[in-house]
Amino acid sequence: MQIATTIAEVRTQVKAWRREGLTVGLVPTMGYLHAGHASLVDRAAADCDRVVVSVFVNPTQFAPGEDLEAYPRDFTHDCAVLEKHGCDLVFHPSVEEMYPPDASAYVELLSEMPKQLCGKTRPTHFRGVCTVVAKLFHIVTPDKAFFGQKDAQQLAIIRRMVRDLSYDIEVVGCPIVREADGLAMSSRNTYLSPQERKAALVLSQAVRLGQDMYAKGETDAEIVLHAMRAHIAAEPLAKIDYVCAVDNETMMPVLALCEGTLVAMAVYIGKTRLIDNFITGA
Ligand code: PAF
Repeated sequence: MQIATTIAEVRTQVKAWRREGLTVGLVPTMGYLHAGHASLVDRAAADCDRVVVSVFVNPTQFAPGEDLEAYPRDFTHDCAVLEKHGCDLVFHPSVEEMYPPDASAYVELLSEMPKQLCGKTRPTHFRGVCTVVAKLFHIVTPDKAFFGQKDAQQLAIIRRMVRDLSYDIEVVGCPIVREADGLAMSSRNTYLSPQERKAALVLSQAVRLGQDMYAKGETDAEIVLHAMRAHIAAEPLAKIDYVCAVDNETMMPVLALCEGTLVAMAVYIGKTRLIDNFITGA
């Protein structure tokens, strides 16, 4: 497995693969890899001849006061995970390599999509995500790019960016990977104290509650969301940011659940903000 820190190194390697007629998959990550990331790399290795994984904690998607400095990092461990899961090239650039000091170009969807759900409390987050993902797409020029369904709004926004900017890249959404007790895997789970770790189960329990209600025939979004919110609110360490039902393509709120509706939540457990979701009927 090759490790590249410069854009030029990645371009040289990808061009060499292209000359051999090989297909290239990209898995963008911010590192501190867990089984959820590993599942994306597995899928990329199954679908593509060569796999590039970027490990870059992207400053432009963090607002001042968010956890950019505290965000967990362990590049040695990341490389061990990536080697095991069939990654061919790790792209681990510095901030200066990705963003020249006077960089001022951004990629941003101007529709309502990035203003919904997480965008309400993180208004500049998706501009940062789109910008770094657009840059990675230009640098790696993958045939396919792999993203987790846990970040459902991010996935929908990237699909829309790919469509609007005519990238010739297939965006592949991959299922949420959960711990044995249901907690969705996240690098931020590492912030949780043992007590908070137990409290965090309210998210996946609320997901199951919503799924069960829909499976039993309840399609009134407010009834389902009210039950999910009540379950979460009963946990003293939990503070709801949002629990919403939206159209999975536009992220706009819906009143009735139908097959393919996204039911998504963000909940603070202590100071840690966690997200989870399900798609009805999936
Ligand atoms: O999902 C993430 O880890 C990040 O938002 C991404 C897509 C790697 C962009 O920095």
